[in-house]
Amino acid sequence: MTHQHEKEAHPHSDPGHDADPAQYWDGVYREKAKRWSGNPNPQLIEEAKGLVPGTALDLGCGEGADAIWLARHGWTVTAVDVSAVALERAETHAAELGLQGRIIWLRRDFGPWHPEGGFDLVSSQFLHSPLVTWRDSLAAAAAAVAPGGTLLVVGHHPDGLPPWSGHKDMKDKFFTPEDLVESLTSGPGSWRINVADSREREVTGPDGQHATTIDSVLRATRTAEAHTSESQPY
Ligand SMILES: C[S@@+](CC[C@H](N)C(=O)[O-])C[C@H]1O[C@@H](n2cnc3c(N)ncnc32)[C@H](O)[C@@H]1O
Repeated sequence: MTHQHEKEAHPHSDPGHDADPAQYWDGVYREKAKRWSGNPNPQLIEEAKGLVPGTALDLGCGEGADAIWLARHGWTVTAVDVSAVALERAETHAAELGLQGRIIWLRRDFGPWHPEGGFDLVSSQFLHSPLVTWRDSLAAAAAAVAPGGTLLVVGHHPDGLPPWSGHKDMKDKFFTPEDLVESLTSGPGSWRINVADSREREVTGPDGQHATTIDSVLRATRTAEAHTSESQPY
């Protein structure tokens, strides 16, 4: 599938460690009237289509295409992003599609923010930021999954970055599926790993150039047992 998501992921590769995430990401979004393709991420569709809809959290929802897809497929969606600019676009897009009031849009920094209760699905798609480590964003997403719920994490594989993305100096911001499994299963909770895949995908760049990228995909279920550090083999 050709998907233009990777066109121009965060172009400011070094904003400085003490940069404010809201200011940084608002700046990234303001540079363009539309930052992403407006299409839902293909791995979200692939992995969520077989799940029974319930409550979903889209962490780092950006301009909202995934949250909109989930709402249209029966999920009760909370969509969180640190950027007010992105959220305003997301809400406008949802309203244009007749989905006003169907999605809760929250401006939060997932670092200090902890959602109340757990979600049946937590989706974190391409939550790559120069200001957070992938381990921290994985931990935040995992912590929001209810017992019996699903964690879905998708992002760029360090060996499969789009050549035009300018990410080459930031390889430590990306992860393999094995990285995700290792980090998840050595943290809190008990998990069954359903999917840990590297998936190639054809993408189109800003000037119409084509490339093959690799997505790292993790889908895991939080097992219903009480909080424990044990993890399930897969
Ligand atoms: C590369 S974009 C991906 C957006 C969307 N998930 C998608 O796939 O189109 C990363 C998103 O994470 C958001 N983000 C980065 N750091 C965040 C934080 N600390 N708290 C909440 N959102 C954050 C950014 O504002 C941005 O919208």
